[in-house]
Amino acid sequence: MKLDPKLVSLSARSTVWSEAYRGLRTSIEYVQILRNLHTVLVTSAVRESGKSLTAANLAVVMAQAGNRTLVVDADLRRPAQHKIFGLPNLQGYTTVITKGLSLTSCLQAGPVEHLSVLTSGPLPRNPADLLGSEASMYVLGTLKDQFDMTLIDAPPVLGLADALTLGGHTDGVLYIIKSRFNSRRLDLKALQQLRQTGSQVIGAVLNQAKDFDHHPYYDRNG
Ligand SMILES: Nc1ncnc2c1ncn2[C@@H]1O[C@H](COP(=O)(O)OP(=O)(O)OP(=O)(O)O)[C@@H](O)[C@H]1O
Ligand SMILES: [Mg+2]
Repeated sequence: MKLDPKLVSLSARSTVWSEAYRGLRTSIEYVQILRNLHTVLVTSAVRESGKSLTAANLAVVMAQAGNRTLVVDADLRRPAQHKIFGLPNLQGYTTVITKGLSLTSCLQAGPVEHLSVLTSGPLPRNPADLLGSEASMYVLGTLKDQFDMTLIDAPPVLGLADALTLGGHTDGVLYIIKSRFNSRRLDLKALQQLRQTGSQVIGAVLNQAKDFDHHPYYDRNG
């Protein structure tokens, strides 16, 4: 299986896109200076805002900087990390939770040193219940000891309990805003729900911003 070409952080060549992910890493490193930050949930108000791609690219640049990094696919409705990293998905988060398989046996090596991937595993019928289960919370708790940074790819907030359940059990939430889509009202609603359920939103990413596309300075490099 092939890596997603949109995993731009893997390229040795510096482009506007890979630099954007490195900039995001720096912003997160600043937050890490101020507070304990080992598990970060990546979510947004609505579907297809770039949560999965952001989590994957950020995980790559985190690992490239020498951090023991894990990306967990906790989107048990539309999982994507196995496709992005070109990995099989027979085992993953759901098999650790439901079958009691050890986390270590279900981790897969990512394409760069220091990067591990826990794909979703086979999809359950009751994603929200599974994610909120004691076993799921236990697994999340153990990650903090094993990895410097765990990025958790989650479903969107609105209309689903999944991200809200997970958010309260992670150190911070990275919120993705779908640009070119007038989502202000939905973003405010999702952010309010996250705060009300105990999530600490550490920052936001404006994804697929149009102004980036053909900037002359960046075109020279990329
Ligand atoms: N910055 C970007 N540049 C180019 N394409 C992007 C970018 N971000 C996301 N995409 C594309 O948009 C689509 C949705 O991205 P992604 O799967 O990361 O979003 P998502 O929020 O995780 O979606 P879902 O709600 O289905 O989980 C994918 O085809 C992805 O390749
Ligand atoms: Mg996704």
